[in-house]
Amino acid sequence: MTATQPTSIHALELGPMENFIYLIEDRASGRAAVVDPAWDVPEVLKLADEHGVRITDILLTHSHQDHINGIEAVLQEYDAQLHLLKDEARFWGSYLDLPTLHHGGDRIELGDTQIEVLHTPGHTPGSACYRVGDRLITGDTLFVFGCGRCDLRGGDPEQMYVTLKGMVERLPKDIVILPGHNYAVKPTSTLEEQLEGNPFLHFDQLDRFVEYRMHYHDRHRDAPYGPVCPGHEMP
Ligand SMILES: [Fe+2]
Repeated sequence: MTATQPTSIHALELGPMENFIYLIEDRASGRAAVVDPAWDVPEVLKLADEHGVRITDILLTHSHQDHINGIEAVLQEYDAQLHLLKDEARFWGSYLDLPTLHHGGDRIELGDTQIEVLHTPGHTPGSACYRVGDRLITGDTLFVFGCGRCDLRGGDPEQMYVTLKGMVERLPKDIVILPGHNYAVKPTSTLEEQLEGNPFLHFDQLDRFVEYRMHYHDRHRDAPYGPVCPGHEMP
């Protein structure tokens, strides 16, 4: 990232579930958006202070507790606008004080920075990814060498299959994936690298994907996700 680019994205790994919290900084306006504020909000606020930005927006990839438990603490410091997808608000069912509800394809303007909202259901009905130029914040939809669980309430492995296929079709191969958890051997990756080594991108049959997602693939804390060759370790 060079100083001439209008946007910086800073990452913090916080909490017992290895969540990544991202701060999107628009340099010209001094505005920032925090994605999935959770766990240690003082660290998020400190990061904003260090960069001399004010948090004007909160973006949610989805409504699971480990991604939202810092919203109120941020709102105590900043009068920020909350963004999430309409489908996720309906699924969450929580009282929200005047959020902005989006549909896939919407754009959020953060000063000179354009943030594109992608609707990526599967982990939850209203899961979102946020695209900022050549970077994609993927929440619990696409992990580095993994993807989000589909066995929790609101999860749907068939939707996840369609979502991942659509992402592969529509996104440039050099886009950088910024996931919602630090579950892998490396914190970020490109879509191109994921096409090589992410087992969830290797399926061409829905039923086999569902079987693998629901019954085969699991995560172990002592074994971070790494690349898997097609045909290897697959049912
Ligand atoms: Fe989640």
